[in-house]
Amino acid sequence: MSNLQQKKVKVFSGIQPSGQIHLGNYLGAIRGWVKNQDKKDNIFCIVDLHAITTPQNPIELKKQTEILTTLLFASGLDPNKNTIFIQSHVSAHSEACWILNCITPMGWLERMTQFKDKGENKKTVSTGLLDYPVLMAADILIYDTQEVPVGEDQKQHVELARDIAQRFNNIYGNTFVIPEPIIPNTGARIMGLNDPTVKMSKTFSNIRGHSVGILDSPDEIVKTFKKATTDSGNEIKFSEDPSKAGVNNLLTIFKVITNQNNDQVEKHFSNARGYGDLKTQVAEVVIQEFQPIREKYQMLKNNQEELTQLINNGAEIAQSISSKKLSEIKNKIGFIN
Ligand code: TYM
Repeated sequence: MSNLQQKKVKVFSGIQPSGQIHLGNYLGAIRGWVKNQDKKDNIFCIVDLHAITTPQNPIELKKQTEILTTLLFASGLDPNKNTIFIQSHVSAHSEACWILNCITPMGWLERMTQFKDKGENKKTVSTGLLDYPVLMAADILIYDTQEVPVGEDQKQHVELARDIAQRFNNIYGNTFVIPEPIIPNTGARIMGLNDPTVKMSKTFSNIRGHSVGILDSPDEIVKTFKKATTDSGNEIKFSEDPSKAGVNNLLTIFKVITNQNNDQVEKHFSNARGYGDLKTQVAEVVIQEFQPIREKYQMLKNNQEELTQLINNGAEIAQSISSKKLSEIKNKIGFIN
């Protein structure tokens, strides 16, 4: 095999263990990670350092981290093809974050829409929440990442990582690869089922009817979809009209899961009996998609020892890659070895 054939594109992405992993996370990120696992050189990180930028109950955080770890493997990510690890197990992330903090202007962070959204109506927010995108830049840059597959909501953060990398390169000489955000054409922004004007989010997962979780029972999934907000019409078509956002969201979910185009989906529903039928059919494909994941999850969750071993192996690999980059960064900025 030639060198050219051997070199795979370097991919990094992350997911927070801060609440129920929902359909949006799955369609916007995890599903694509699994699909591309043979083609690229992948590192996936469970970002617990990011999770604590908003208050977390320690017992719940531990539990969610275990669930998410198990879920990633249950979703089909093969530990032999991907490096999967927990962010706090690899100290280079925090160290690189500090260094990058020192070249990142505050104004860049204050402009981030997610910071503004998450900070809205809060009496006080942590410094960590403001600094969140710099930690994310560190995550990406210490692995010489070329591609960052994420949902639409993370695009601005990846663009900031590019700006930070460029700024560092300009000051200290060529050090970082400039990463590209990779956003799926469809499914990059799944909306809340109870309110299709807001993005489906872990923050609202305690609100009844907002999202479906990968581990929800088929009954729960049907119930949630049945209550999904639509409109007073009956036309089952893709539409940019804000009043049709609910139907559009349901069609989008169906489209991504069934791998069809808009025409095929609209044709499929041309004889449907109203929105009730649409909701039932979307629930059905979601249940089918999640079924094997749920089954594998049940098998894996009783095997915590093996999972611990896998996640420790992942950390070892991540540690060995990132520590080299960190040494290079420290050397560039004038730290003594
Ligand atoms: P997080 O945990 O909020 O979300 C994980 C992934 O799911 C995507 N996503 C969605 N996609 C479609 N529709 C939705 N409603 C939806 N909600 C979430 C997110 O875009 C993301 O891809 N900051 C990141 C984690 C992170 C990271 C990184 C990502 C930390 N370091 C480095 C990439 C590279 C986050 O909080 O994702």
